[in-house]
Amino acid sequence: MKYIVLLFLFVSFKCSLANHCKITRTKTDITCDCSSKNLRRIPLRKIPRETTILNLSGNSLTLVTNNSFEGLGKVHTLYLQSSKITLFEVGAFSGLDSLTYIDLSSNFIEKESLPPGLFRPISKLQYLNIASNLFLISKEYPDRVLQDLTHLQTLSMSGINGAVFGNGFKYLTSLNSLNLDPCSINELQNDTFVSFKGLPILNLNFICRFKKVQPGALAPFQSISSLAIVGSELIRISDLLVVLSSLRDRNMSLIDFSSNYRSRTGADIISSEAFSYLGGVCVKEVILRRNQIGIIQGGSISRMKYKNCLQKFDVSQNNIYGDYQTALEIFKLSVLKVLDFSKQEILGPYKKIKNESFNSEDSKYSLSYSVDLPPSLERLNASGLSIKLSPLANVNFKFGSHVVYVDVNWTPFTNCDGVITGLDNLQFFGMSGFNCKILNPKMISSFKNLQELQSRNANLNIGLQHDVNAIFLKGLEKLRIIDFAGNGLENLNPELLRSQYNSLYSVDLSNNNFDDFPFQITEFKNLSYINLENNKIIDFDEKVTNDLDDLESRVKGHLKIRLDRNLLQCNCKSLIFIKWLFKTKIQLDNGGNYSCGYIDGSKKTTAYALKNIDELTKQCASKFWLITSVCLTLLLIIIIFISSIVYKYRITLQYWYLVIRRRYKIYSKLDEQSDYKYSAFVAYHHDNYRWVCGPLTSFLEGEKKLSLCLHDRDFALGSLIVDNIFEAISQSKKVILIVSKSFLKSTWCEYELDMARMRMFRENKDILIVILVEKIPPEDMPKSLLRIWNNVTCIEAEEYVSEENTPQFQHLFWKRLYQSIIT
Ligand SMILES: *[C@@H]1O[C@H](CO)[C@@H](O)[C@H](O)[C@H]1NC(C)=O
Ligand SMILES: *[C@@H]1O[C@H](CO)[C@@H](O)[C@H](O)[C@H]1NC(C)=O
Ligand SMILES: *[C@@H]1O[C@H](CO)[C@@H](O)[C@H](O)[C@H]1NC(C)=O
Ligand SMILES: *[C@@H]1O[C@H](CO)[C@@H](O)[C@H](O)[C@H]1NC(C)=O
Ligand SMILES: *[C@@H]1O[C@H](CO)[C@@H](O)[C@H](O)[C@H]1NC(C)=O
Ligand SMILES: *[C@@H]1O[C@H](CO)[C@@H](O)[C@H](O)[C@H]1NC(C)=O
Ligand SMILES: *[C@@H]1O[C@H](CO)[C@@H](O)[C@H](O)[C@H]1NC(C)=O
Ligand SMILES: *[C@@H]1O[C@H](CO)[C@@H](O)[C@H](O)[C@H]1NC(C)=O
Repeated sequence: MKYIVLLFLFVSFKCSLANHCKITRTKTDITCDCSSKNLRRIPLRKIPRETTILNLSGNSLTLVTNNSFEGLGKVHTLYLQSSKITLFEVGAFSGLDSLTYIDLSSNFIEKESLPPGLFRPISKLQYLNIASNLFLISKEYPDRVLQDLTHLQTLSMSGINGAVFGNGFKYLTSLNSLNLDPCSINELQNDTFVSFKGLPILNLNFICRFKKVQPGALAPFQSISSLAIVGSELIRISDLLVVLSSLRDRNMSLIDFSSNYRSRTGADIISSEAFSYLGGVCVKEVILRRNQIGIIQGGSISRMKYKNCLQKFDVSQNNIYGDYQTALEIFKLSVLKVLDFSKQEILGPYKKIKNESFNSEDSKYSLSYSVDLPPSLERLNASGLSIKLSPLANVNFKFGSHVVYVDVNWTPFTNCDGVITGLDNLQFFGMSGFNCKILNPKMISSFKNLQELQSRNANLNIGLQHDVNAIFLKGLEKLRIIDFAGNGLENLNPELLRSQYNSLYSVDLSNNNFDDFPFQITEFKNLSYINLENNKIIDFDEKVTNDLDDLESRVKGHLKIRLDRNLLQCNCKSLIFIKWLFKTKIQLDNGGNYSCGYIDGSKKTTAYALKNIDELTKQCASKFWLITSVCLTLLLIIIIFISSIVYKYRITLQYWYLVIRRRYKIYSKLDEQSDYKYSAFVAYHHDNYRWVCGPLTSFLEGEKKLSLCLHDRDFALGSLIVDNIFEAISQSKKVILIVSKSFLKSTWCEYELDMARMRMFRENKDILIVILVEKIPPEDMPKSLLRIWNNVTCIEAEEYVSEENTPQFQHLFWKRLYQSIIT
């Protein structure tokens, strides 16, 4: 039972919490946020009495009744926008004694929704926003009900085309800002704002649809300081400037005429006369951004009455391609500090810039310019200009000593073969998008105070290759931030960053081609941010990770490194690296969790690899043994293979070896062709010794005077038998094999046979004479002999061998033998 009660209490508590407005307290304010809760009435009981800021926006209030805010006397700020309010009762705001700020925009309020006297209880109101309601329907401003607001300083409402600013506005005697946003007014006439005459209005913000303005339209605003007419899209600046004629000789802080002319094809030419309306006002800041201005006529600046007022001039995002003279006049603006003419987008028919392909000749004549800057200039933004393709020249800026910021990013100079001087105090230089394939290493070396260098996508990989002595950044000892992203870099000159060991804080090398950590880290004192995203890094070795950890402790835990989108590998080689990713105190993007090529060829993440690190380690160990054993087996197979080949062709190999060796011996010159040392080498088995050394020798040597080589007699003692056999065969005209069964069985038989065979092939001569001294069936003959049988002179001698003591040398056998030796 107890528990059920508790549960019930808990549930009801939760429910009431869900409906509750969110209370936040700061030192000075208590904010009650009841926004976007689909409330139909104001939940007075849930709003703390001491609330100072009340947010009721985004509800469905429809009707705000008498005393809706009873007791909320501390609320100074009330948000009621977008709450579908259609009607207020006259006492709706009573009780809001401290209210100074109310936002009623984007409701369904029309003139009748606001009963006269509605604002009387909150007459201390300083800020009122009633824009985007339904006043448009009756084409009337609710000026009568507003006239109680004598303390109102800022009024924001929608401008209604054709409606008249009524007399009620005259009572807003504290009004200093009038915002018409949104505003459908097409035309400003001399009498449009007469009701505001004499009010202390300083700021005007018109986001209207002006097509036409009369010159005296702003005359009633006698104290105006800041004028913004923006977003008209329909009126050329040259037509709009005339509205300044009634502000002549005023001291103003800002004239903002941005985005007033947008059309596909049109361009605006501002004559020096039109420009003189601007020049007639002593204004500190002029913004003419995004108006399709094509030309500001030469002489415009010279004709300005107040050249010594303008401090900031922004003509960015136009189509200015001329007039060159105007650029040369700029230096006359004696107090100009900020000049922004970035992003001149050439549209439509004015796309006249010639697409000249870069001519390498251009780089040869290095021009030198001297450019006068406005003497107070501090910041120059000339980024994104569609200039005629041109190489950088040597430029010397005069009066550039105050310049701290030069942004020429994405203004595509076709080379970097120039030296820029005269900007000794420059702190920021942007040269992204230059084509620095040709780079003068001293290009920026005069910027001794440079702190930030942006050079993205500038082909530095090629340009820096020639800077072998690392001059490019030498001496820039204050450089803190370097951005070399997207330069195709594969490596950096180890000396490149030497001058920045103490100063470098942040380096962006993303979108390059590095496959390892690109530079030595050990010397840096304050390097805290390294971006290596989108390179080709596989892993870092242990030295790099140790160095990085050292750096991390040097910069006291502030080191951040980005490594996403590399070619990281989660394999056996990177085990230590993967562990390091999650162990290091360096702040890595993704917390060290990157995609990586896994050991099995799939795509995984480093977090996955870490989770499975034990298995991975095991796999790597087995892989190691697998690889080792495979290698060993392979080696063994190769050895066996080679051995068997060698064994099979051992005699052939040996023969060739001996041939070659013989060539290199001195006596190899002994003529092979004509004079053999022996007429024949007789190869025989010891069993036939008697016959060979008896009848055979006495016939061939005694009778016929031939010389024979017999191993028993002629082989050199001390030489190897193989050498002897080879020499004997080489030096004999013929080789006689005395073939008996025992000869065929002997070890040397085949050897001698093969040697003879090799020589036959080599010299293409029939040198082999076989004497069969026994009957031997063909199948018992050595295969190698059978293969060459046709080229062998075969003589059978069985009968003659037996009669060894009384040889009949007249016999046919001896004749044939003799014949075959001498032919
Ligand atoms: C009031 O609430 C709306 C809707 O939640 C919110 O957009 C707005 O920022 C809030 N205003 C303030 C000042 O907190
Ligand atoms: C609201 O209060 C006013 C007086 O402050 C009164 O005249 C009016 O009748 C009241 N409206 C309603 C609906 O109570
Ligand atoms: C508007 O006022 C200017 C002087 O401020 C005057 O020259 C011009 O004629 C006036 N235009 C009309 C239509 O009254
Ligand atoms: C503008 O300011 C200058 C000096 O700050 C002052 O001398 C001059 O009177 C001012 N002009 C107007 C119209 O207020
Ligand atoms: C300029 O020429 C190059 C090739 O020569 C071409 O790729 C490029 O699109 C051209 N640019 C313009 C703006 O015509
Ligand atoms: C310079 O101009 C470009 C383009 O208009 C802009 O993106 C950049 O932020 C500007 N630089 C500064 C410092 O305002
Ligand atoms: C390190 O660099 C940061 C950021 O540029 C800077 O605020 C800090 O003073 C530097 N520290 C040292 C010791 O130079
Ligand atoms: C690592 O990143 C992948 C993909 O981005 C994600 O699915 C996974 O949950 C992350 N793992 C951890 C531990 O954060």
